[in-house]
Amino acid sequence: MARLQPETSDHLPEIDVEEFRKVVRSRRSIRRFTAEPLPDRILDDCLELAMLAPNSSNLQPWEFYVVRTPAVRQQLATACLGQNAAKTAPVLIGIVARTNTWRQNSQRNLDEWPGDKRPRIVEKYYSRVAPLHYNQGPFGLLGMVKKAASSVIGLRRPVPRGPYSSCEMKVWAAKSTALAAENLMLALRAHGYDSCPMEGFDDCRVRRILGVPKDGNVIMVLAAGRQADNGIYHQQYRFDPSDFIHQL
Ligand SMILES: Cc1cc2nc3c(=O)[nH]c(=O)nc-3n(C[C@H](O)[C@H](O)[C@H](O)COP(=O)(O)O)c2cc1C
Repeated sequence: MARLQPETSDHLPEIDVEEFRKVVRSRRSIRRFTAEPLPDRILDDCLELAMLAPNSSNLQPWEFYVVRTPAVRQQLATACLGQNAAKTAPVLIGIVARTNTWRQNSQRNLDEWPGDKRPRIVEKYYSRVAPLHYNQGPFGLLGMVKKAASSVIGLRRPVPRGPYSSCEMKVWAAKSTALAAENLMLALRAHGYDSCPMEGFDDCRVRRILGVPKDGNVIMVLAAGRQADNGIYHQQYRFDPSDFIHQL
């Protein structure tokens, strides 16, 4: 897979907001797909764009399990409770958030830092701060100590309040991974393809089929392909934005 050239601040492309709006507005959760295959080169591009999502400390806690093989797809569709989206899509992608890759990815941030010289602050962050911040210790004891310490120090000044438990680590990893999932859905749409995110699945079976490591959490299974004529079940609607947007 060819790696994307990252945009630099002195080389930003002109952006047409109407094109972006088209992508966002035409994305729908598609419940039936045609049998048309999703070309590898398009899916590869979409996955690379997914990985450009913002993510916590650039620790990239996501993984994508791409299932094309019909027999495995069928098993996965059954584990997705036989949903039509899963049964008809030519590709299913298990989107997984990992809670234990932060250590190796801290090291990768040091090893793969772009440019000649790593700034000292970067060095300090990935070699000292991150290993303390994300490490919850055996039985979560270090997390408890950090939580207690931050509660006391936090009486006087702002302090980080987590993640300080395995549960909070799951939320931590899921946040970044969900952003990558959205990038992936929008990238598919920009290429003229469609998707359906699904959390309606049997987690135990999906994990087994995909071979997800112990610290992985399947946050969604994404069905992807070309929407069928009857793929949209109803008109899109949202509640009144003023009920959800708070101006301070
Ligand atoms: C985390 C998540 C889980 C979802 N799970 C399912 C699912 O299991 N099955 C399904 O048909 N749609 C699922 N959806 C799609 C939502 O139902 C859909 O996004 C919502 O109704 C709004 O419709 P729209 O995506 O077409 O705008 C899920 C969406 C998200 C973000």
